[in-house]
Amino acid sequence: MTLSSAPGKVYLFGEHAVVYGEPAVPCAIERRARVGVQRRDDGKLRVHSKDLSLNGFTVEYDGSTSNGPDIDVSESLISAAMGYVDHAIEQVRDATDEDEVGFDVTIESDIPLGAGLGSSAAVVVAAIDAATRELGVTLETDELAERAYRTEYQVQDGQASRADTFCSATGGAVRVEGEDCRSLDAPDLPIVIGFDGGAGDTGKLVAGVRDLRNEYDFAADTVEAIGDVVRNGEDALANGDIDELGRLMDFNHGLLSALGVSSRSLDTMVWAARDAGARGAKLTGAGGGGCIVALDPTPETETALSFTPGCEDAFRAELSEKGVARLE
Ligand code: MEV
Repeated sequence: MTLSSAPGKVYLFGEHAVVYGEPAVPCAIERRARVGVQRRDDGKLRVHSKDLSLNGFTVEYDGSTSNGPDIDVSESLISAAMGYVDHAIEQVRDATDEDEVGFDVTIESDIPLGAGLGSSAAVVVAAIDAATRELGVTLETDELAERAYRTEYQVQDGQASRADTFCSATGGAVRVEGEDCRSLDAPDLPIVIGFDGGAGDTGKLVAGVRDLRNEYDFAADTVEAIGDVVRNGEDALANGDIDELGRLMDFNHGLLSALGVSSRSLDTMVWAARDAGARGAKLTGAGGGGCIVALDPTPETETALSFTPGCEDAFRAELSEKGVARLE
């Protein structure tokens, strides 16, 4: 058995707009997916997970998601998760020239599925890393990030940026603009996360922004305005100016709302955080439901969120300097 882990992330700035070539700044956080992999010579893929979702599932899987597992979570989430694992294994076969190889894959994750914290990127990065190593090949971080990106690109029908996968592979705060991916110096950020217990469908949300952008010039301008916010945010991050970072996060949330990717519960949590004195708050990731990220060095925001109706979990998150970790 070969075991790797990779971190989830929050977006300080720039989700959605990054799909259209604007810059984005995600930050890896200390919430991880751990993937254990063992070679099988019968070519099958068997995936086992106790905590990828709220309920455990195990599925004998031979390359199609049509024989869905009997489990109590949304079928689209499971089918998405299986799609990511399936395409990740395709990348492994390609990288190792072992076209017929199968695997037993065990996934443990403390990142909620589809909630904006980069669960799929973390699973994909850890799965590709563990499975290639299981076959005796250790990928450089750049190649790992690239192969994880290609996996997301395929699953998301060609609508994916390199931001989630690069951040998960390398750790820390990163800046992604098209193919240009680099690490950034970041101060200790007082990150607080609120989770509404729900999830958004990344593919649908990305497609919704694409349609708006095609229909209205002002939606295209909104996407570009997010890019301007990100560029200002990079300066604030370099200066360690938490107040300015917060103001810009508020602005970014407003622009994402205008693009239709917020939700009532995300807005409620954003306002609860602001009312509690957070320096700023915004949704993180694709939106539609899931998580918000706020900056607050005091305990107030976490406490307020934990009493906010519709907020299922509120917690602090440390920046994870480490990306992929090779455990066994
Ligand atoms: C999803 O975590 C982030 C999006 O920007 C999509 C992507 O970058 O691939 C919405």
